[in-house]
Amino acid sequence: MSEHKTDELRGHAYDGIEEYDNKLPNWWLFILYGSIVFAVGYWLVFHTFSIADLPRARYDKEMVKANEEQLARMAKQGLTDESLTLMAAIPAQVEEGRQLFATYCVVCHADRGQGLVGPNLTDGLWIHGGRPLDIHKTVTDGVPSKGMAAWGRQLGPTRVQKVVAYVLTLKGTEVPGKAPEGVPEAAPAPPAAAAPPAAAPATAGAAGNG
Ligand code: HEC
Repeated sequence: MSEHKTDELRGHAYDGIEEYDNKLPNWWLFILYGSIVFAVGYWLVFHTFSIADLPRARYDKEMVKANEEQLARMAKQGLTDESLTLMAAIPAQVEEGRQLFATYCVVCHADRGQGLVGPNLTDGLWIHGGRPLDIHKTVTDGVPSKGMAAWGRQLGPTRVQKVVAYVLTLKGTEVPGKAPEGVPEAAPAPPAAAAPPAAAPATAGAAGNG
């Protein structure tokens, strides 16, 4: 018999319930101390020394990798709205675009794209269309008559794509700045020569009956 007596009542009662003073079962203690050791290890690995990524960071990394792989696949099929949108979801690409924007575009579009000489890029209205390919075309070909250079020649295709990816992230941030110009993105591009409004005075004459 061990020095610790088992099944011995402690001699008090709470609401009629009496207690033994037995040792805790080993399996229970094992779980308790095991959890404490695990928690210390977890804290050191994930928080103190950041040896491993937390699930959120791991998820983000996997998403970026998946996006990059998909972008590489899409690049073979030429530039599309989707491939530019995808680029705008890859932080490294956007960051390069941000630096290009800071170098070449802020003088006219301001630090957050809110517009100065050039239009506000953060509102929902676009003079030359707000779909990714529209923006890509405006940046590549420019609007020389209005003072917007054709950046395609100066920056080359890759850098134009990156700066466009960055412009896509400005979209809808609605930074107060230059008043909106153009038409909402959702609207179809305005036809070159707007058709005259259909004038059909249906009732005049036909229905007029003395
Ligand atoms: C010298 C001034 C200037 C610089 C620098 C400049 N832009 Fe512009 N940008 C303009 C002007 C002016 C317009 C408006 C053109 C118009 O009215 O048709 C414009 C229009 C645009 C548009 C179309 C906006 C719309 O509403 O459709 C985009 C997109 C754009 N610029 C992106 C850029 C990017 C990206 C850069 C840098 C690589 C850049 N711009 C550099 C002056 C500039």
